[in-house]
Amino acid sequence: METNVIYCGDCLIKLKEIPDESIDLIYIDPPFSSNRNYVAFWQEQEKRHFEDRFENVRAYLNYMEPRIKELYRILSPKGSFYYHCDWHASHYIKMLLDRDDLFGYSNFLNEIVWHYRRWTGSAQNFLRMHDTILFYAKEKGKHRFNPAFTNYTKKSLARKQHYHTRIKGDDVYVTSISPTGVKENDVWDIPVINSQAKERLGYPTQKPLALLDRIIKASSNEGDIVLDAFCGCGTTIISAQLLKRQWIGIDVSPTSCRVMAKRLQDSCGITEGIDFWIKDLPKTVEELRIYPAFEFQNWAVNALGGVPNKIRVRDKGIDGKLYPIEDIKKEKKEGLDLFGDIDRYIPIQVKRTDQVGRPDIENFEVAMKRDKREKGIFIGFDFSRDALQEIRRAEREESLLIEPKTVSQIVEDQLDKSLL
Ligand SMILES: C[S@@+](CC[C@H](N)C(=O)[O-])C[C@H]1O[C@@H](n2cnc3c(N)ncnc32)[C@H](O)[C@@H]1O
Repeated sequence: METNVIYCGDCLIKLKEIPDESIDLIYIDPPFSSNRNYVAFWQEQEKRHFEDRFENVRAYLNYMEPRIKELYRILSPKGSFYYHCDWHASHYIKMLLDRDDLFGYSNFLNEIVWHYRRWTGSAQNFLRMHDTILFYAKEKGKHRFNPAFTNYTKKSLARKQHYHTRIKGDDVYVTSISPTGVKENDVWDIPVINSQAKERLGYPTQKPLALLDRIIKASSNEGDIVLDAFCGCGTTIISAQLLKRQWIGIDVSPTSCRVMAKRLQDSCGITEGIDFWIKDLPKTVEELRIYPAFEFQNWAVNALGGVPNKIRVRDKGIDGKLYPIEDIKKEKKEGLDLFGDIDRYIPIQVKRTDQVGRPDIENFEVAMKRDKREKGIFIGFDFSRDALQEIRRAEREESLLIEPKTVSQIVEDQLDKSLL
């Protein structure tokens, strides 16, 4: 079985390719409909699919059940399973996991409370400041567990010293105090990733590395295989890599898969194609046609080596930017978006419609002029004759150079490169 691989696709399909009882540790953090941050990150269209799909808890559980079955099948008898969720569905999920044909009540180990502080407001209830992580063994008793310890607080150390002090005659003895601290309990105080955090990528559902480090250290050893079937921006696989575990990540979003690849390179210093691989990114024009618009834009801009706009609120006619190679090599400046301070770029506009028309080109011209650009790239499946005429006119009369690029050209270029 291949490890250190990111699979792009629905985990239900990808998990079926993984052999029985081959994985040592599974952590999942699947999205739930009420996760507004998540839907805001993606685009409106995806939000609709999402809300349709998970319109109630029952639908969510129906969606998760076959995926949990697969996860149970691939987990080794000494393996552990962590399901990250919150108040929206945690009790229902526990009932599902407790079923005898899944993990079973007797294999339940902990309800871990991840307690954090964050800005939130409610006049009608106590502030909600924790997530729930349900922890199960495949077979309780056989499962690997490396107990963790926290340091004594100053207060409890002082108290302990008091209790361990014996006075015999004129002599004072301090009996030994275990130097390791106290055993970790099931309430974990770990800060959320704030806007200043170094590890922050801007991916709204990103979990802290410290959280995953704790899980991976407790339930696996070096060399073991860790799997995350809803990998997001890859916190699990980064932690696994840094802790010398093998790993498998799955995410349905090609954008997430690219974010993970970059993060592995930046945070772990490892190289795609040598140390790790991304598999099953969509390749054919037909596959790309049915992509959600935002995913399609990201794919197109990335395919040209550009940088997609982070959040698509109003793109003002520009979906991404292509920077000269020499500028890309420059260091990212603290506090600024990558390339945020670089003014040399070529704007990229992407349209997923069957045919790009003259008005689309005219709008792009406006955006180029506003940004004082003389060159731009327009990506589409096809260009109408009118659109191509307008491109020629703009060059002739206004010295605006727009390169029309079709999706099939990009796909062919990519195939050529992959054959080299
Ligand atoms: C809450 S995020 C995970 C965040 C992650 N724990 C992190 O720290 O970055 C959930 C992820 O599940 C992915 N996802 C949703 N449905 C999926 C499916 N059926 N198969 C695989 N991934 C899926 C989404 O694209 C999203 O990136």
